[in-house]
Order: sequence, then structure tokens, then C-alpha cells
Amino acid sequence: MRQNGRDLSRRGFLASLGTLGAAATLGSPVTAQSGPVIKKPIPSSGQQLAVIGMGSSRTFDVGGDPKARDVCCQVLQTFFDMGGEAIDSSPMYGTSPEVIGYCLKRIRNKQALFSATKVWTETRANGIAQMENSERLWGVKRFDLMQIHNLVDWRTHLETLIEWKKQGRIRYLGISTSHGRRHAEFLEIMGQEPLDFVQFTYNVLDREAEEHLLPLAAERKQAVIVNRAFRRGELFKQFGNKPLPEWANEFDCTNWAQFFLKFVVSHPAVTCVIPATRRVDHMRQNMGANYGRLPDAAMRKRMIEYVESL
Ligand SMILES: NC(=O)c1ccc[n+]([C@@H]2O[C@H](COP(=O)([O-])OP(=O)(O)OC[C@H]3O[C@@H](n4cnc5c(N)ncnc54)[C@H](OP(=O)(O)O)[C@@H]3O)[C@@H](O)[C@H]2O)c1
Repeated sequence: MRQNGRDLSRRGFLASLGTLGAAATLGSPVTAQSGPVIKKPIPSSGQQLAVIGMGSSRTFDVGGDPKARDVCCQVLQTFFDMGGEAIDSSPMYGTSPEVIGYCLKRIRNKQALFSATKVWTETRANGIAQMENSERLWGVKRFDLMQIHNLVDWRTHLETLIEWKKQGRIRYLGISTSHGRRHAEFLEIMGQEPLDFVQFTYNVLDREAEEHLLPLAAERKQAVIVNRAFRRGELFKQFGNKPLPEWANEFDCTNWAQFFLKFVVSHPAVTCVIPATRRVDHMRQNMGANYGRLPDAAMRKRMIEYVESL
């Protein structure tokens, strides 16, 4: 097994899972993935990023409970052990940033971290204070990516972020939204401003982004992070008990999580996806989509037709 350019034997991989602790819920059999991690380039730099990242809204907002924090650490350890890189958070997500920082201090094999958070407040001074606080909570010297959350006071923060990028205080800057919120304004900003990244919702049922957002991101050479790939878990409720089509093995997909994630990351304009989970077994399923083949255009069409027929 290759992981972030390093070889990891099946035995080593299983041993690493063993160190996750007795509290780990291993709901499905461990399957070592083979082959290299799937990566895509960030257009503004060429840096390669693993296609499966991790979100942290709700799932890491566990407060101070040591047992819940321990489970988060196991989830995060599994993420890194299976070739994960991008972690997304926001000051909007309660204790998530603090819990991410707590876990990062306690786990190993995390050198591939691509840290992404957001600024979500008004005024320049509040924005700077919030971003500095996020660095402290995560325990990082600087973030790889800072996004303006839901376009809140975006003109003000964009100015700060452009300055910060010039000074090397962040590596990339971007904007985020979700479920169709303020798309017209979002598109306008994408068309005019020097963004490295954009983040919005896209999944096998919510495909509005295919019309304008994804083509514009490709044209403007902006990396795309996709949120809500599972529609906040709704897709599992709707399709989880339906049969996975046999032809899913043609793109190395063994469960519904991988079906939904590989659909998203196989869009040519998508750079990575950030599914959120509070469970180790779910993280393992999700990270399986970091490996193997991706569906081509014809297969993607078939995937849509299949879910729409269920
Ligand atoms: N405006 C913005 O910037 C914005 C807006 C929305 C989201 N986001 C970001 O995008 C991330 C993802 O979005 P989201 O958290 O709203 O929704 P999501 O990733 O679509 O869905 C998360 C839900 O899916 C479930 N799940 C995950 N893996 C699973 C699996 N393998 N099998 C079954 N269920 C599974 C989780 O439950 P379990 O815990 O039980 O696994 C959780 O309830 C957020 O966490 C956040 O970082 C950003």
C-alpha cells in the first residue's frame, strides 16, 4: 500500500489501526486500500492535494468530554493513516477548532496536514483577531487556506487575506458557501477577484453547481472544495438500504459512501471533497474513495441515472 508517497504494508496499516485504542468502533471489516492516493493539483500553485479531505461541522463539536475527544482523535488518526490531507473548519463550528487542535497534538503521522479554516465575522480588526485565535486553537503557525465563510464582510476580509498571502501568513485564500446560498454574488466574486479556492455544495442529487460554479472555477483556475457531499447524511437515509450497483466495482467502489464521494471528485473541476463523520468505521469507508479508479463521464451519467431510478 502506498500512502503519501510512502509504502505502507498491509501489516503496518493494520498495526496502525490497532494503536487507535480500544474505544474505536470497527463496524466493517478492515480493507487495506491499494495503489497510490488519488491527488489533484491546486491550479494556482500546482501543489497536489489528496481528493478526500475532512469537514468538522457538528462532528468535532464535542466540547470538553474526554471520551468524545478521544473518539475524534481516532477518527483523525484514521484520516491521516489513509492518506488524508485537507481538514476544513470554521469559527462557526463551536468547539470543533479547539478539538482539532487537541487531536493534532495527540496523534502521529500528520505531516501531510493541509489546514483550512474560515473567517466569519465583521470588521477588519475582528477578522484578524478571529484568524489569530484559530491559529492558537489549532496549534498551527499559519493556515494553508483561509476562506471567507458565507461571504460575511467579504470585501474587508479579502483585503486582509491578500496582504496576509503576500506576507506568507497564509498560503491560499478563498470563499465559501453552501446549498445554493448567494450564488449570484458568489459567481461575481469568482469572476473578479484573485481567489485560489472556492467552496460550495455539490453531490449526486444537488448538481446546480454544474451549471455555472464549476465551469467558472475551471475557467478562472480556482481550486474547488466540495461540502455536503452526503447532503448532511440524507443520502444514506435515502439510498443506504438500496443495492449498490454491481458496476460500481468498475471504479473500485465498495459502499455507498465511496459511490457519493467518487461521483463528486470525478468532476474535472473538483479538487477535493470534505465529508464529515464522528465515526472511525465511517471515516474508513470514506477514505476508501481516496484510492483506486474514478468514474469517467459515461459512468458519472450512469450513476445519476441509477440514483434517480431508485
Ligand atoms: N458555508 C460553508 O463554508 C460550509 C457549509 C456546509 C458545510 N461546510 C463544510 O463541509 C463539511 C461537510 O458538510 P456537512 O458536515 O454539512 O455534511 P456531509 O459531509 O454531507 O454529511 C455529514 C453526515 O454524513 C454522515 N456520514 C459521514 N460518513 C458516513 C458514512 N460513511 N456512512 C454513513 N453516514 C456517514 C455523518 O454521520 P456520522 O457522524 O454518523 O458518520 C454526518 O451526519 C462540513 O463539516 C464543513 O466542514 C462548509
